[in-house]
Amino acid sequence: MIKDITLSEIYNSCKDKTINVSIKTEKGIFSASPPSGTSTGKYEAKPLDVEEIKKIFPKVKKKFIGRGEKEVDKIIEMIGIKKVGANLSLALSVAAIRAIAFDAYKFFKKEAESFPYPLGNTIGGGAHSGYLSEQEFLVLPVKAKTINEAVKTNLSIWKEIGKTLKPFITGRNRENAWICKLNDIKSLEVLEDIAEDFGARIGIDFAANNIFKDGRYYYRHPDRNFSAEDQLGFVLDLIKNYKLAYVEDPFIENDFEHFAELTKKAKCLVAGDDLFATQSSRLKQGVKKKAGNAIIIKPNQAGTVSRTLETVNLAKKSGFTTVVSHRSCETEDNFIADLAVGIEAPIIKCATYGKEREAKFKRLEELWMKAKKPKMAKLRNIFI
Ligand code: PGA
Ligand code: ZN
Repeated sequence: MIKDITLSEIYNSCKDKTINVSIKTEKGIFSASPPSGTSTGKYEAKPLDVEEIKKIFPKVKKKFIGRGEKEVDKIIEMIGIKKVGANLSLALSVAAIRAIAFDAYKFFKKEAESFPYPLGNTIGGGAHSGYLSEQEFLVLPVKAKTINEAVKTNLSIWKEIGKTLKPFITGRNRENAWICKLNDIKSLEVLEDIAEDFGARIGIDFAANNIFKDGRYYYRHPDRNFSAEDQLGFVLDLIKNYKLAYVEDPFIENDFEHFAELTKKAKCLVAGDDLFATQSSRLKQGVKKKAGNAIIIKPNQAGTVSRTLETVNLAKKSGFTTVVSHRSCETEDNFIADLAVGIEAPIIKCATYGKEREAKFKRLEELWMKAKKPKMAKLRNIFI
């Protein structure tokens, strides 16, 4: 039974204010702190700002006191995620999972068995700041045999890029990806070489909403702009030429049609982030239209763990690869590590470097050590 709930202010990796919520039951005190996004989509559940949360908190809190921890998501739905705010809502929901299961993954699965490959951000751009228009140049250590090896591989690649491209690097962005003054094609060439040396494959998150204006996709360095048809050709060429294993949001959040066309032609994972916004209703449309074969799972886009799970279950039933993901502005909460192991997601996307990301890797390693027969997940739809 919930005896008390407290709210405190903390700072996330972007140095913005966020919240930490603690739920007290007879079993102990269980906390959670939600992340926030920078390139947020139109269809995701919306957070409230911290000052607003502080105002509504006393009234919201009253609805939970004396109720069971298993009732938290139901009570949130009764109040409405919009009113609670997706950030307070997710914090309450995750803290409740910990109150129910202590080790959060056990809420989803009794034993930890399957571990996700970390998808690591190396060179950055787009809304996360950087020289390039594409938001994230990613690596996937497909040959790693253990979670430790997988995490180390990504970190080694990230370091090697920093060394090799040093003359062109001007800093790091909000996900600690390198800001590099080389154009996208040259960056991909270097990245492909380095990734290959480490037995990894590469991917790109275009976060295409941010480069779209009046019907065209705009790129800088060199300046060019594409119609959706040209964008399709451009993405297909990149997949072929750089053996991409993964592309995310190559089109805007309403373009199910081009997502479907790409999925038909591309021999790699085609993931929807802003397209689906972790909403089961959006994924339903995607399944029907065969738009994509993978889905980004960001619990704060959904607002509660129950809603997240509803989307995950539909994804699994429909053969979509689940990619459990952080947000660009993270806290040290490690819930997504438990979620990825608990739902047996093949991939976890949580950058490469920085203490908020390390918190997730540490948790994965801890779960690996505790597991009886741990193994890396099965990857599908990575053909080349
Ligand atoms: P975010 O986006 O900045 O909204 O977290 C990251 C992403 O697009 O995957
Ligand atoms: Zn994305």
